[in-house]
Amino acid sequence: MTAPFPPASTQHPLAVITGGAGGIGRLVIEGLLTAGYHVIALTRQGSVPTLEHSPGITNIRCDLGDPQAIGLATDRIRSFGAPVRALIHCAGVIVPQTVSDLDDGAIREQVTVNLQTPIMLTTRLLDLVPRGGHIVFVNSMAAIVPLGGSSVYAATKFGLRGFALSLREEVRSRGIHVSSIFPGAVDTPMLQREMQNGGSALNFVTLPVPPQHIATLILRALRQRSRDVFVPSSDGIFGQLLLIFPAIWQKLLPVMLWMGEKGRRKYLRERKDETTPT
Ligand SMILES: NC(=O)c1ccc[n+]([C@@H]2O[C@H](COP(=O)([O-])OP(=O)(O)OC[C@H]3O[C@@H](n4cnc5c(N)ncnc54)[C@H](OP(=O)(O)O)[C@@H]3O)[C@@H](O)[C@H]2O)c1
Repeated sequence: MTAPFPPASTQHPLAVITGGAGGIGRLVIEGLLTAGYHVIALTRQGSVPTLEHSPGITNIRCDLGDPQAIGLATDRIRSFGAPVRALIHCAGVIVPQTVSDLDDGAIREQVTVNLQTPIMLTTRLLDLVPRGGHIVFVNSMAAIVPLGGSSVYAATKFGLRGFALSLREEVRSRGIHVSSIFPGAVDTPMLQREMQNGGSALNFVTLPVPPQHIATLILRALRQRSRDVFVPSSDGIFGQLLLIFPAIWQKLLPVMLWMGEKGRRKYLRERKDETTPT
């Protein structure tokens, strides 16, 4: 059973976020609360870990893989009748599989959660986003570079980038801001699951950054109305270069994979040291 919207929420700008129970999303919610937002969190569990009793959060239980559940969740948000100042799409899922091994369930889950859901949520809530409002897509460097072994994830993130860029064109005249955040590897449960299931060594060309770093950049993008944020920022330049000269990727890939394997071994060693009792 979900609680009614607390009356106090009307005094605060409203933020709607998906993926709020995840490594990055929970920290974004903490920052939003500190910044004075009332947060509507769409999560599978119907609560945000460690913030279960926060009066600043309205929880809506919602499986983002279920389009019907999204319809119900957006009806509920609409019934509140308040403008949505920030809409943050942070939920995501990756199932590493080579193309010859792809299974229908994994294709559907990734396409739905990573691409279809952010599009549907944006469509259904867009008229609630006022002038000065902001829509943030937590994307990935997998929207810029090919990711052999995770082609569906890359396809969804490439698609999400296309949607965000096109949306920006449509809503610019209405004064609505659109940002995409493109992290490389981030040290969250997603990366750990990915690595246990044969994820790409490219995640470790540079060391994974802590989720707090990404959360801080998302909150800064909201404050400063930045457009696209690459982490590390050098990846942005590299990404633009690749768009102009895609053939560079083939030349660089062997070196990148070698660096990534080295980085992966270092990461696993450090994690083992952290978990081994002294
Ligand atoms: N970690 C990385 O290396 C990395 C790198 C680049 C981009 N990103 C992007 O960053 C975003 C956040 O990822 P993260 O690293 O914080 O991963 P995470 O800790 O696994 O969080 C992902 C969140 O998405 C939610 N989610 C997945 N499927 C869902 C569904 N069907 N219904 C409702 N919620 C669902 C998960 O919910 P549950 O808690 O219920 O599982 C979880 O809270 C994602 O969009 C990801 O693609 C991550």
